[in-house]
Amino acid sequence: MLNIGFIACGGIARHHASRLANVRGARIIACADTFAESAESFAAEFGEPGASTYTDYRRMLRRADLDAIWVCTPTFLHAPAVIAAAKAGKHIFCEKPMAMKPGDAQRMAAEVDKAGVRFTMGFVRRFCPEWGKMKQIVQSGTLGSPVIWRFAAGGKPPNQWFRDENKGGGPLLDGAIHNYDFALQMLGPVASVQASSCQFDSTSVGADTASAILNFASGDQHTLIWSWGMAKGAPAASLNDLIGPKGTLQFGMTADKAPKGFSAKTHGAFTFKGAGGKQRVFTYKRSDMFLDQAKHVVAHFEKNEQPLATAADGIAALEVGLSVLKSGKSQRTIRL
Ligand SMILES: NC(=O)c1ccc[n+]([C@@H]2O[C@H](COP(=O)([O-])OP(=O)(O)OC[C@H]3O[C@@H](n4cnc5c(N)ncnc54)[C@H](O)[C@@H]3O)[C@@H](O)[C@H]2O)c1
Repeated sequence: MLNIGFIACGGIARHHASRLANVRGARIIACADTFAESAESFAAEFGEPGASTYTDYRRMLRRADLDAIWVCTPTFLHAPAVIAAAKAGKHIFCEKPMAMKPGDAQRMAAEVDKAGVRFTMGFVRRFCPEWGKMKQIVQSGTLGSPVIWRFAAGGKPPNQWFRDENKGGGPLLDGAIHNYDFALQMLGPVASVQASSCQFDSTSVGADTASAILNFASGDQHTLIWSWGMAKGAPAASLNDLIGPKGTLQFGMTADKAPKGFSAKTHGAFTFKGAGGKQRVFTYKRSDMFLDQAKHVVAHFEKNEQPLATAADGIAALEVGLSVLKSGKSQRTIRL
């Protein structure tokens, strides 16, 4: 039985805890949040009967019966929490992005190594069946080479720290870190980035809106336009598709193209449109990526094996994200 403690009991911690409740061999026996009420409501909803709550996670980490810690603080506080958990000899699941500074991420990795504990990152998109299918289609050469992955999104995160360049980094760090990690797996290393950022909302600290181009060594590109500064509730058109010399890959399909027996409840689809408008549909089975991530992390901690997303992956994605922020400010190309 893996005995788990949570550092921070906010939005994402509750996502993870609700999935851990369905993972055999894992239980939450303690949690810490600076707000006692958050820790108490979290323990009541997701903890084992009698689960303890703390307002200072350092006190929680003294418990010898804790095997693993889920670090779910705002990003700028990941480093001290991970380092303290490593020093206490606990396995660690750390939410993304790994940190706000490369030096912090390096120190976290070094302390984890020194302590000999397991560490993994919350790159939940690695467990997303939709993005997994996208990767398979792209890597099979269906679109030809190079490809451009085009992505645009908007909306307002629930708390202000997400839009603070010192605490969360805004959409092109906090949000897009999933894209960077996934693109590194799908398209290989990034050679350079070009970005331009701006601020739409005066309550943001630093840029809350930006566009960026990632140039991969392979010749592939990933373009992103993302805002967290638009008026609350204002619709921001989203885009997610890929183009290549052989055609376009779109998420979803029109009902008339559904294969026989297809159910949108259990399956999703992609449509490839090639030469002469010829269409081909690819389907995949839907699943809960947070549940699959929780099962994977628990299994690997219990077997004392290295999980899928490593500290090196966290550092690599962070390097891309911080380069995008730097390029966005300076409007200069950054080579990695
Ligand atoms: N994987 C994903 O898809 C995903 C989604 C959302 C957020 N996140 C990441 O998860 C992390 C947390 O995000 P969130 O949405 O839960 O934020 P949140 O603002 O909802 O919650 C943060 C919590 O941290 C607590 N906290 C702050 N300082 C603390 C401290 N020193 N000790 C203990 N608790 C402390 C706050 O009281 C709050 O309860 C961030 O790194 C974020 O980028 C990941």
